[in-house]
Amino acid sequence: MWMKEASTLIEYGAPIDARTMVAPPDVTELELEPSHPGLGDEEYVRRRKELFALCRRHRLERLGPPIIRYNAEETRIWREVSPKLDDLHQKHASQIYLKAKRDLAITQEEIPQLRHLSDRLRRETEMHLVPAEGALPYRTFYEYIADRGFPVTQFIRHGSHPEFTPEPDMIHDCLGHVPPLMNRDYAELLTLIGKAVASTDRGEQVLALKRFSWFSIEFGLIEEAGEVKVFGAGILSSTGEIPNSLFSPAVTRRPFVTDVVINTDYDPARMQDNLFVAPSLPFLRRELEGLVRRFEIPVL
Ligand SMILES: [Fe+2]
Repeated sequence: MWMKEASTLIEYGAPIDARTMVAPPDVTELELEPSHPGLGDEEYVRRRKELFALCRRHRLERLGPPIIRYNAEETRIWREVSPKLDDLHQKHASQIYLKAKRDLAITQEEIPQLRHLSDRLRRETEMHLVPAEGALPYRTFYEYIADRGFPVTQFIRHGSHPEFTPEPDMIHDCLGHVPPLMNRDYAELLTLIGKAVASTDRGEQVLALKRFSWFSIEFGLIEEAGEVKVFGAGILSSTGEIPNSLFSPAVTRRPFVTDVVINTDYDPARMQDNLFVAPSLPFLRRELEGLVRRFEIPVL
């Protein structure tokens, strides 16, 4: 049994230790990758450290999202990127997403306060938002979701490349992940992934659930009235990924078959060229329930 747990898995094209899927390291200080566009900008790094400390404290002390006073540069970036995304959403996003975005009244003028969005979600689907200092380790992330909390960042990408971010930021989270949380089927799908991940100590099962999530929640396409629409947050928050995902001849779009999905690796650092189309959210939920039963994870 131990030998099996310690076996090597392949993720992002490289071998990883199955144990780190189950017990990932905690990151206690802000780390920007060497190619990060904000790295030489002292004011940006200072602001990022300030928000990192504030959001981490609010997360660990379970205080809910802090109210952030956004500065002029952060507001400028929001006002530049969100209308461009909204044009693309109106044409290509799933109805589930568009309805939720309207109901949440997310505007192109002011950066929304997560605290207010969280209150609204609680009333609608009993989900809430957890302030996150940055990308959390996968397992930690899903432990919050098992408890119906969705971790969301509150910092904004660097202004030199407003349409690009090397890490999930407020625009990715707020315009990608938050709106669908208003949908009950989506919320139940997500919390079931969270409960399953939080309840298994087998690295290969965590990896399979992570891939299920990646190809649905993060980069999923969905059929709606005979058309293919976008519902994955990673696509919805990128002006490049939306047209790429639907129209690029370099992208493979296959029907969502769970056994294929959980055995498909991906590279989060690149434009995605391998996507799956799900017929509906209830379909995904049934597939996930089947997988969880097969894995014998006792959460149903
Ligand atoms: Fe994401």
